[in-house]
Amino acid sequence: MKKILVTGGAGFIGGNFVHYLLSRYPEDKVICVDSLTYAGNLDTLSDVTDNANFGFYKIDITDAVSIDKLFAEVLPDIVVNFAAESHVDRSIEDPGIFLRTNILGVQVLMDACRKYNVSRYHQVSTDEVYGDLPLDKPEMMFTEQTPLHTSSPYSASKASADLLVMAYYRTYKLPVTISRCSNNYGPYHFPEKLIPLMIINALYDKPLPVYGSGANVRDWLYVEDHCAAIDLIIRKGKAGEVYNVGGHNEKKNIDIVKTIVNKLGKSERLITFVKDRAGHDLRYAIDPSKIHAELGWLPRTDFDEGIEKTIEWYINNKPWWEKIINGEYRNYYERMYENR
Ligand code: NAD
Ligand code: TYD
Repeated sequence: MKKILVTGGAGFIGGNFVHYLLSRYPEDKVICVDSLTYAGNLDTLSDVTDNANFGFYKIDITDAVSIDKLFAEVLPDIVVNFAAESHVDRSIEDPGIFLRTNILGVQVLMDACRKYNVSRYHQVSTDEVYGDLPLDKPEMMFTEQTPLHTSSPYSASKASADLLVMAYYRTYKLPVTISRCSNNYGPYHFPEKLIPLMIINALYDKPLPVYGSGANVRDWLYVEDHCAAIDLIIRKGKAGEVYNVGGHNEKKNIDIVKTIVNKLGKSERLITFVKDRAGHDLRYAIDPSKIHAELGWLPRTDFDEGIEKTIEWYINNKPWWEKIINGEYRNYYERMYENR
């Protein structure tokens, strides 16, 4: 039996990871810590709250006193840190909170891991720490050796955290691992991100705001495949190692949007080209050969199947996202898109 503390478990990937663990390891205990920011949603966890192996604590990871108290009470074996401010556009508007949560929060968690002898601290990082790749060199991909070279306050905060994690490994011998994954998609994805935003707007026949020309490329992975990779890393990965996670599924933004429009039977006339994001990364592409060779990980869900499952999920789970888009999110949407 293992006690796994999952931070940011009321968010998109953390929520999927909580479901992943509870459905596959009935002997393990899963303790979720989340401060419930705008992106945290208890509805995401409503079907596991009665599970005897699940516990939820509303705590901010930068609150060292509460984190220490929780570790003393729970004594986790493994900590997986998903808690973060995660949206590039918000980091451009207001970087401060990104540095606080994404860097100082990691320090607080790792100090608690040291004090309570946690056997693995896993940092959920991102391919965005490598910066971007040119559009005209398709053979180039991010490997674990690619230098960190960030573009946005978000990616800079995540890269800073990665450096701190490796420093704790070297200095204190804290048993850490880091995963750097490409863009995820799937159920419980907050509507501010590309795929859910386009699905929801298309369902309402609202304009589909594509930044710039839509030529930017992202490497998309179904969220359950990311969960499987992290699960393998925390159980079989080697301390002190970084693992890239991605499924060789590069797509231009415009093609993603057209796929969604066509699958929903809507008109491509909804597509509206809007002002580009400042500092917009051109292309991300992950070389996942290390995690494949060392841990045997391979993605299971191809894009066509994954996007259909995702669209179906949004159609069938309207109450989950309607509550969000009718709340504070409406102000964000107006600020970000009204005069773009
Ligand atoms: P998300 O924004 O959907 O969820 C983040 C969660 O963290 C929310 O539940 C929020 O309430 C919680 N949180 C934020 N600040 C907190 C704090 N100070 N204390 C406690 N909880 C806090 O994000 P996501 O898309 O699920 O991303 C999770 C992690 O995966 C992030 O670290 C992100 O950098 C990384 N990542 C995301 C992607 C992606 O495509 N979404 C890809 C690679 C890596
Ligand atoms: P996003 O989902 O914000 O993820 P990230 O910036 O971390 O890759 O955006 C994915 C891509 O889609 C990115 O190139 C920006 C673009 N995009 C749009 O064109 N329109 C939108 O409304 C959003 C949210 C993103």
